[in-house]
Amino acid sequence: AEALRVALAGLGTVGGGVVKLLDANRDLIARRAGRPIEVVAVSARDRTRDRGIDLSRFAWVDDSSSLATLDEVDVVVELVGGSDGPALTLARATLAAGRHLVTANKALLAHHGLELAETAERGSAALKFEAAVAGGIPVIKGLREGAAANEIGRVYGILNGTCNFILSKMEAEGRDFAEVLSEAQALGYAESDPTFDIDGIDAAHKLSILASLAFGSQPAFGAVAVHGIRHVLGADIAEAAALGHRVRLVGVAEAGPQGLFQRVHPHLVPLDHPLAHVTGSTNAVVAEGNFVGRLLFQGAGAGEGPTASAVVADLIDIARGEFGPAFAMPAGSLSAASVADSGER
Ligand code: HSE
Repeated sequence: AEALRVALAGLGTVGGGVVKLLDANRDLIARRAGRPIEVVAVSARDRTRDRGIDLSRFAWVDDSSSLATLDEVDVVVELVGGSDGPALTLARATLAAGRHLVTANKALLAHHGLELAETAERGSAALKFEAAVAGGIPVIKGLREGAAANEIGRVYGILNGTCNFILSKMEAEGRDFAEVLSEAQALGYAESDPTFDIDGIDAAHKLSILASLAFGSQPAFGAVAVHGIRHVLGADIAEAAALGHRVRLVGVAEAGPQGLFQRVHPHLVPLDHPLAHVTGSTNAVVAEGNFVGRLLFQGAGAGEGPTASAVVADLIDIARGEFGPAFAMPAGSLSAASVADSGER
């Protein structure tokens, strides 16, 4: 069968991982997808950096937005990052051209998800973003498909590996936030602007996407109340421990009397709750459905292999022709009215 032809924008950790994964599992992926998946063109800031992969076989494009209209491309994978700028330009151009888009960009979706979903639907194109939330954990699929028949009362979780690493380290070693921060950044999971991690913004981007899937709401980053972990002290963690709790940065979305409440802030999690046992850079998401009960998704929320794994899973769906509306229901039926302003940011 004819190959699915992919253009990759961005060759950082995740982009490099996608190339490596498509190479390493080529035959298995072709069997599962029903046809080969081939990268045909790439665009990246630095052409010369050694990424440990042979890039000479791909066409190079200087302006990422031109990937959207290359003749031989079926799908664009956007790994540029940022809620606006080149990522938004590329995403809009790709979907407007009726091409499929796979993205790991949570900020883009949190700010422009509805618009992009509408454009995708007008062009009968896929908009897929498994890698945007909790890296390798198939939580988008889990909510969108696995829990599709359920009414979800609440979805919540640990959505930022950098913060969870910091809080776990502070607890295990009795140290303060500032001391542990640079170690967390050395992990390579931090956002290009690390304040997005520690101030809870990255977790809020992801939460607004999860909430859209769980509640059929429009992604609305501006409706999320956000408090990060900058002001958590070693003493707070010790006190919580003495009371049988751990401190975790948790994002919660739940239906309330005034609509959908979305908030990210440091929580006291009792030791008998599974989120208390999620340590290091791991992510975890809990969803409560009215027929399925409590679901727990846990795994690596960042990193080359896990995030690439999510990107390629989306490509396999597209290769099979298995994709529906981006947020599980047509963009036009996503509700705006149900989103309550959750307060201070
Ligand atoms: N900065 C994010 C984290 C990376 O620390 O979890 C994955 O989105």
